[in-house]
Amino acid sequence: MNRAVDVVVIGAGVAGLSAALGLAATREVLVLSAGDGSTPWAQGGVSVAFGADDPLDHAHDTDIAGAGFCDPRNVRALVEEGPQRVAELIAHGALFDRREDGSLSRTLEGGHSYPRIVHAGGDATGAEVDRALRAAVRAAGVETMAGRTIGLTKSASGRVTGVLVQTGGETVRIDARAVVLATGGIGNAYLASTNPSAVRGDGIALALLAGASLVDMEFVQFHPTALFTGETRGQLPLVTEAVRGEGAVLRDVRGRLIMAGRHPRADLAPRDIVAREIEAAMRRDGSDHVWLDARSIAPDVLRRRFPTVLAACASIGVDLLSEQIPVAPAEHFLCGGVQVDRDGATGVPGLYAVGEVAATGVHGANRLASNSLLEGLVFGRRVATALTLDLPATTERASYEVILTEDREAERIRAILTKYAGIRRDGAGLNAAVDELKALGNGSLATVARSVIAAATARQESRGCHWRSDHPHTDDRWNEHVAISLDENGLP
Ligand code: SIN
Repeated sequence: MNRAVDVVVIGAGVAGLSAALGLAATREVLVLSAGDGSTPWAQGGVSVAFGADDPLDHAHDTDIAGAGFCDPRNVRALVEEGPQRVAELIAHGALFDRREDGSLSRTLEGGHSYPRIVHAGGDATGAEVDRALRAAVRAAGVETMAGRTIGLTKSASGRVTGVLVQTGGETVRIDARAVVLATGGIGNAYLASTNPSAVRGDGIALALLAGASLVDMEFVQFHPTALFTGETRGQLPLVTEAVRGEGAVLRDVRGRLIMAGRHPRADLAPRDIVAREIEAAMRRDGSDHVWLDARSIAPDVLRRRFPTVLAACASIGVDLLSEQIPVAPAEHFLCGGVQVDRDGATGVPGLYAVGEVAATGVHGANRLASNSLLEGLVFGRRVATALTLDLPATTERASYEVILTEDREAERIRAILTKYAGIRRDGAGLNAAVDELKALGNGSLATVARSVIAAATARQESRGCHWRSDHPHTDDRWNEHVAISLDENGLP
């Protein structure tokens, strides 16, 4: 059962749904979903500057968190187009939390100089954004299909002409005039992550196979505070930074404040800095967690603002209201990805990327907290605008296919990436990773792992969330981006 539409969007998170919604009035769009993505799990909120806040201050905070490595023009698009996108989301029915006077409730997170993070359901912002966007996409008549995209088709001229998707036990070919990758990050390439298991870097591998380049793959962000449940595999519950935004502090297992004197913003320093300090405290004390102490926050505030975190704590028998809770860093977000321009074009005709899978440069070397839902809203709309304005009148004929192969030893690949490309890396470990990955085939997880390792090996300095213990300082000679493409053997 082959089909044809104007645009296929692969991925049904905030970026994919925003793109689909923006296209619905002018194009026939099909959204493919391989399972639960990261959007519904986002807690803290959407950072957006309006009113007394200035988008340029938001841009400045974004660049400071990004270790000065952000693309200034794209950051400007992010912060300036953000308020309009959030207003549209509200018009589509998203219910953000409000103060008694009716204004939007706003909180702080790490790296922000102003409380500009709007939130929903206390700490269930992603779920509300997801609900509102799904309802809007449905109302706009966009079709969604469940299935894993296992390949792309290309024309003789090299244009991407469609996708191959496994759905209902068969492989279906869908021809399209454009394909938009919105597949999210690479969490499942690590043993443990805050991402759900369907987030496995398929879009990264598909883009490489199709001839696109990756950039900034070494900048893998670790969230400082995943709940330490004792589990070291799979999806870990997040403890939103907004808990620290409301006044919670981090302590080592001996009870000492971890961030005191380490950064002017202490517990609200940018995420990479807090994650590194936690890792150092855990290494120093030989512990597998640290403590988050929220006991200075009034219980009614904790109950109202953090129902999701409270429930996660309760599920492991700890009480956020009266006890310190155990937390540890976990893989959370890919700051780099498929190299794109501001409208999502990858350079491969017909292939676009948006959201976490894409690298627009807005996150630099370390993403600012709560800029990810915003990125999906803003750049999802931008790609929709580009494809509304400019789309070839006809589909080119498919002449060959590029197919993802299955990883035979997924758990070994995850273990290698976790061991050698965690918060702290060094040249010896990265070389060992290259050797250990050699015999592990060309599946999508192996391709993702090799790309991260190659970029981390190349960048011989520390910057943002790429921390090399053998090159601990930032070095101006590395003020350039590391790009990855496939070699003649099909390896990154
Ligand atoms: C959080 O709520 O701490 C996560 C939000 C984000 O990843 O920016």
